[in-house]
Amino acid sequence: MLNIGVLVSGGGSNLQAIIDDCENGEIKGNIKVVISNKEDAFGLERARKHNIRAVFEKNEDKVIKILKEENVDLVVLAGYLKIISPKFISEFENKMMNIHPSLIPSFCGDGFYGEKVHQAVIDYGAKVSGATVHFVNEEVDGGAIILQEAVPVYFEDTAEDIQKRVLVEEHKMLPRAIDLISRGKVEIIDGRVNILK
Ligand code: GAR
Repeated sequence: MLNIGVLVSGGGSNLQAIIDDCENGEIKGNIKVVISNKEDAFGLERARKHNIRAVFEKNEDKVIKILKEENVDLVVLAGYLKIISPKFISEFENKMMNIHPSLIPSFCGDGFYGEKVHQAVIDYGAKVSGATVHFVNEEVDGGAIILQEAVPVYFEDTAEDIQKRVLVEEHKMLPRAIDLISRGKVEIIDGRVNILK
């Protein structure tokens, strides 16, 4: 069983997708703790409803301490809108993943989060967007890509339309990426991910 720690800043719909798949056995894992840097994050509420330890904590050293206390094997950034320090990253090297609502390397990096990403897609006139699950390294949105899914972008779309379309894919791919890791199917070779059959 993989011990999972999830970090959230907002609504936590991706967290909910992970909770559901842990409960229905799709993922062989246990969410040991959910931590948020925002006291009113609905993600904390979702965790409590499922009897998962939910912690509001802004201090990074304390966040690391809690994750270690819970013997977390994999840290999942599920809408965690706070930049992670190099120290935190090195503590969980190749054991921390993030989901980003675009096809990296487009529409990513500092300042690209939530609806801003989708508005940038519209402003640019891109015809496809999507989501990416990747390992976390020192570069914002820069680690090895684990999974990507594309969605179409239509001329009439609002940022909210694209967000909704992308979220449908996110809710499938984030649990899938965790499942692949829990089954030892993800290897990193020269900074690239190979998914084993
Ligand atoms: C998701 O779309 C996620 O990809 C994005 O925040 C949203 C959180 O939704 N993350 C980023 O923009 C990170 N740069 P949720 O709280 O409902 O899971």
